[in-house]
Amino acid sequence: MTTARDRGTRLSVQGPVRLHGSVRVSGAKNAALAMMCAALLTTDDVVLQNVPRISDVASLSQLLRELGASVDEEVRDDALALRINGSGVATSDAPAELINENRASFQVIGPLLTRFGRASAPPPGGDSIGQRPIDVHLWGFSQLGADVVRQDNRHVVLAPTGLRGARIFMDYPSVSGTQNVLMAAVRASGRTTIVNAATEPEVQELGGLLNAMGARIKGLGTQCLEIVGVDNLHGTTWRVLADRIESGTYAIAAAMSGGDVFIEDAPVTVMDALLAKLRASGVETLVEPGGIRIRAMRPLKPFNFQALPYPGLPTDLQAPLATLLTQAVGTSTVHERVFDNRLLYIPELLKMGAEIQGSGSVAYIHGPSELHGAKVRALDIRAGVAVLLAALVAKGTTVVEDVYHLERGYDHLEEKLRTLGARVERID
Ligand code: EPU
Repeated sequence: MTTARDRGTRLSVQGPVRLHGSVRVSGAKNAALAMMCAALLTTDDVVLQNVPRISDVASLSQLLRELGASVDEEVRDDALALRINGSGVATSDAPAELINENRASFQVIGPLLTRFGRASAPPPGGDSIGQRPIDVHLWGFSQLGADVVRQDNRHVVLAPTGLRGARIFMDYPSVSGTQNVLMAAVRASGRTTIVNAATEPEVQELGGLLNAMGARIKGLGTQCLEIVGVDNLHGTTWRVLADRIESGTYAIAAAMSGGDVFIEDAPVTVMDALLAKLRASGVETLVEPGGIRIRAMRPLKPFNFQALPYPGLPTDLQAPLATLLTQAVGTSTVHERVFDNRLLYIPELLKMGAEIQGSGSVAYIHGPSELHGAKVRALDIRAGVAVLLAALVAKGTTVVEDVYHLERGYDHLEEKLRTLGARVERID
């Protein structure tokens, strides 16, 4: 597994190529990360299978170990199997440097609060994609009876006499906020109702794992979660659902390169919003046993879309889909409605010859553009993959810098793209 982030690593991509063949999707990053935190809720072993081999998993494993948990990993069928045991957790103060590594690490707070009646952490890190407050998390904890204070740039959450069930309205259906509060509520005394909960599949997956550990959660996948607190949770084994964002990324890559790609394990039942847009663009999306085949005959038709909470089009596919639209014939409009600063990839695509006007959260894309190679940066996981997709269809050589962002979220990305015919090389 990637553990160190080599900030100097770049990718050299020769284009254009037409992708073809078959690629297997890994487990869902944003489900796996939350589930790793959930393992702290019990002193038994929790075994997570189909965990992606990405650096965000490596840094969260390190955080769990620093807290005193054991995390044993094994590679099985091109995926990680993690055996996590939280019985040795001795501190409820999460170390600053590891919390800064990624956003998901803040989700150790819910389980630590449940286990120890207190938890502290600095504000979390993560991509620079706009304001990323954590008021929803802290509000949820306070509604469960915890005191939330700020000390030395840390959030300290205290519930020495335990948490008690409550009816909680969330101002925004935050994904990690719902996950964090859910992990605190499962052992709170009595009944908790979370109104305006996030419905994302990654929240549903976490809820499924918690129920398998003995929790009593109803309403998963709806905006209203009902939780009856239990005294104890126990260990279990869980296979992580395939990553809908990774699947979508390969689907978009296939479509914009005029390719023909089978995406093995794609979780098609949670990909409606993307598949509907690809079809509107003239791409064939054929659901077959074990996955989905994406077959594109150029030219692509333009379309407008908004990035929204689930089941709307995922914000994590906004940048890749905008890149696809540089190849569609006509003008398309993109409206990012989840994060307030997630169009940072536009200047990078402009360097490659794209025609995009962006302001605030809206971009107008005029296509088709004949993209050409350039030196570009991966600014975050999804902005990074967007420029990489552009490089696949651009004429000549593109050098993508700051590849460590891609390693945070995509399991063996270059290798997978190479099996589809891409000419991608790593320059260390
Ligand atoms: N928000 C608040 N208050 C909060 C929390 C969030 O106002 O307390 C707002 C944010 O400012 C933002 C919106 O709510 O405008 C959405 O944020 P959310 O909390 O739902 O996102 P997140 O939990 O921080 C997760 C994923 C992101 C993904 C978003 C939306 C993890 C670790 N990260 O972030 O994934 O984009 O949900 O689906 O689960 C990625 O994988 O590249 C990535 C950024």
